[in-house]
Amino acid sequence: MNIEFLDQPLASIDADITIVFLTETLLETSPHQALLVQSGFKAKQDQLSLLHETGLLYCGIEKLDRDSIRSAAVKAVRCLRDSNYTSAKVAHYFAKNTSALVDGLLLGFYRFDTYKSENEPSAFQRCYLSSDNFDGTMLDAATLKKSIAQRTTVCHAVNFVRDLVNTIPNDITPPALAAVAEELARNNALTCRVLDEAALETEGMQAMLAVGRASVHKPRLIHVSYVPDNPQHVISLVGKGLTYDSGGLSLKPSASMVSMKMDKAGACAVLGILKAVSELQLPIEVHGFIGAAENMLGGNAYKPDDVLKSKNGTTIEVRNTDAEGRLVLADTLTYAQQEVTADYLFDYATLTGACMVALGPYTAGMMGHSHALKHQFSKVAAPSGELLASLPFNAHLKKLLKSDIADISNVGSKPYGGAITAGMFLDTFIDEQMKQKWMHFDIAGPAYSETPWDCHPYGATGAGVRFTIEWMHSLLEKTPNGKQQDI
Ligand code: BES
Ligand code: ZN
Ligand code: ZN
Repeated sequence: MNIEFLDQPLASIDADITIVFLTETLLETSPHQALLVQSGFKAKQDQLSLLHETGLLYCGIEKLDRDSIRSAAVKAVRCLRDSNYTSAKVAHYFAKNTSALVDGLLLGFYRFDTYKSENEPSAFQRCYLSSDNFDGTMLDAATLKKSIAQRTTVCHAVNFVRDLVNTIPNDITPPALAAVAEELARNNALTCRVLDEAALETEGMQAMLAVGRASVHKPRLIHVSYVPDNPQHVISLVGKGLTYDSGGLSLKPSASMVSMKMDKAGACAVLGILKAVSELQLPIEVHGFIGAAENMLGGNAYKPDDVLKSKNGTTIEVRNTDAEGRLVLADTLTYAQQEVTADYLFDYATLTGACMVALGPYTAGMMGHSHALKHQFSKVAAPSGELLASLPFNAHLKKLLKSDIADISNVGSKPYGGAITAGMFLDTFIDEQMKQKWMHFDIAGPAYSETPWDCHPYGATGAGVRFTIEWMHSLLEKTPNGKQQDI
């Protein structure tokens, strides 16, 4: 389904259906009030009423704000997806809600049916966005056109991430993920370098190699770069790419193992962000570093009690092979810092179940040392459509990572604050001069859900793409002259 902006009044656009959002107050003045009330429509949030004869699809909204519009647009587009209508049109509900409207339509329409034998395409193909505002006031067509085009690009990147994360572990192995990155690089004029097992040995990435050792699909480190002319900033993004996490010898219980194909969601988010940034042609140099491995069992598997020497020389006592993401990230973060001197360093990882316990399953946890960066991300979260919350480091929790036989243990000695101890473990691998430039995003909760929520169906959500792109836009707005701001 495609979205098309038409600089025309809504009335002059030819489409099967007109989508109309109504609050309870707007319902009172609607020309179809009597008919709608008769059908039981009360304009409650997400309530739909399709008046076939008039070609009108009424959608209830609680308020004229972005969350209400996004949610109702999801319901509308799913209703149309399952119909035999081919097109719809919709006005704007204030320019500030346009990206939420586009998100609702494009992210709400998405479904993953790659493995279904019968996947009939929907008849519903096109949604026209008119330049009209719903109340007849004038909006600037050029601004609308640009914001719709930009948001469409972001939504396509989110859906690209969803497809990739939803793909089964038999189809996306570490080498297959590297091939996906290479294909993205070819299509989007990016550069891509892949380090195979031998190259990882040469680089001394023993932590990452240990995690992937028992798998027949060997680890890869993938470096994808977008280097525009005269970039205003340089950003490195690091992603956890566990194409499957069985837990290893510290085997996950059967029920917890189901859905662990999603343990590559951080890596896929990094690829999605690179896709969006390059298609938006943002003046930012972006480097994506992905640590791709499969955590399996076998005669040569790494074990609790092993001590691993990571790339930066730190020795790590393995006390739980299911805390593998931080081992892969330790080496990948070290590699990223050695390869590129960046202004910002962000990592994305489905790192801990504890983050979901702390924040619930819909909110990503952000950790780091820079209050300014946390504040910036808090500010962009709501307009991006994603939920973010800060989890604080503290010296007492750090002590739980002490090891009696190595420099650090890969798990905390007490079962509390697990998302934070995981973040503080990663902090050990952040160089001193990068401390204030680094942020860790634990997306274990929002990256994947077997219960549909917000604009997300069953499965992967593409978490991380929207809040990062929103932050990049805010960064560029703050520095129009290309001067770097203080963090
Ligand atoms: N990939 C998991 C984290 C996870 C759990 C993501 C649930 C999404 C949903 C990670 O590798 C893991 O297993 N973490 C352990 C850490 C523990 C052994 C300290 C966890 O969260 O239980
Ligand atoms: Zn694990
Ligand atoms: Zn994992």
